[in-house]
Amino acid sequence: MSKTGAVDPSTQEPLLPLRAASEFAAPTPRVPKRILVLGATSGIAETCCRLWAERGDSLFLVARSPEKLAAVAADLHTRGAAFVGTTVANLDDTAAHPELLAHAINSLAGLDIAFLALGVLGDQAQAERNFARAAEILHTNFVAPVSLLTWLGNYCAQRHAGTLAVLSSVAGDRGRKSNYVYGSSKAGLSAFLGGLRNRIDREGVRVMTIKPGPVKTAMTEGMQGSEKFADVDKVATTIVKSIDAGQDVLYVPGIWRVIMAVIRIIPEQIFKKLNL
Ligand SMILES: NC(=O)c1ccc[n+]([C@@H]2O[C@H](COP(=O)([O-])OP(=O)(O)OC[C@H]3O[C@@H](n4cnc5c(N)ncnc54)[C@H](OP(=O)(O)O)[C@@H]3O)[C@@H](O)[C@H]2O)c1
Repeated sequence: MSKTGAVDPSTQEPLLPLRAASEFAAPTPRVPKRILVLGATSGIAETCCRLWAERGDSLFLVARSPEKLAAVAADLHTRGAAFVGTTVANLDDTAAHPELLAHAINSLAGLDIAFLALGVLGDQAQAERNFARAAEILHTNFVAPVSLLTWLGNYCAQRHAGTLAVLSSVAGDRGRKSNYVYGSSKAGLSAFLGGLRNRIDREGVRVMTIKPGPVKTAMTEGMQGSEKFADVDKVATTIVKSIDAGQDVLYVPGIWRVIMAVIRIIPEQIFKKLNL
């Protein structure tokens, strides 16, 4: 007997239950996302872009090296991106940001996601001795992203749409003697992102703070213990999924949420004596 107990009146055979009309409907085609990538030749950004290209999204890439940018763009074309636009720009030039961003968004015919990946590790030892070196790190990692995010945040808030996904770092969670100049630039960036999210989430704009632990990319090449750093493919897969899920703060790999929670609560009396 069928579950409903109904039978075919001519044969007295049980009738199969009817399937809902929605089971026969064609799946809705996925609308490609329009994604702006700032610092697109970054190892982490390039790997995310491959995933976006493979699912047919539209990409606009901004980077400062014409050769690297052309190679990345060509690769993303062959991987299936619906559109790949490029502009060569040194993003330290904040005065050029408004025109650059307007051009990128016009080329994409709108904006769903802006992904900020620009950043420099800098030389901590030099930055300790020479303020000009420290200021360069702070400018690229903090001042330039603040300029980009101010423009993008207002653009998205006016339209009540969009996601701003930004690579900060676990290094911003607590200053350490080995990289506190870089760390403080990321601490500033994380705090800025927290405040921006608090302001424009209610306008329908997602602001996502991404805090990677050490990842195997050009930035960490040759560093002590770099063979144990996280694999960039795994990190990029998690980032892309978490952007889709609308996460606010992402530690990647996830274990860094726990590690940094422990590091943050070490009392200063003990912390200042540690060699971290
Ligand atoms: N790798 C890690 O362990 C790690 C951990 C935590 C956070 N992060 C953050 O993740 C982001 C991406 O880093 P990554 O690991 O992918 O390293 P990466 O490959 O060295 O990427 C950094 C990117 O920033 C670009 N950039 C730097 N200054 C710029 C400027 N003035 N204008 C335009 N582009 C500029 C670089 O361009 P060029 O290619 O021309 O140099 C490079 O493409 C950075 O913000 C970094 O701080 C990385």
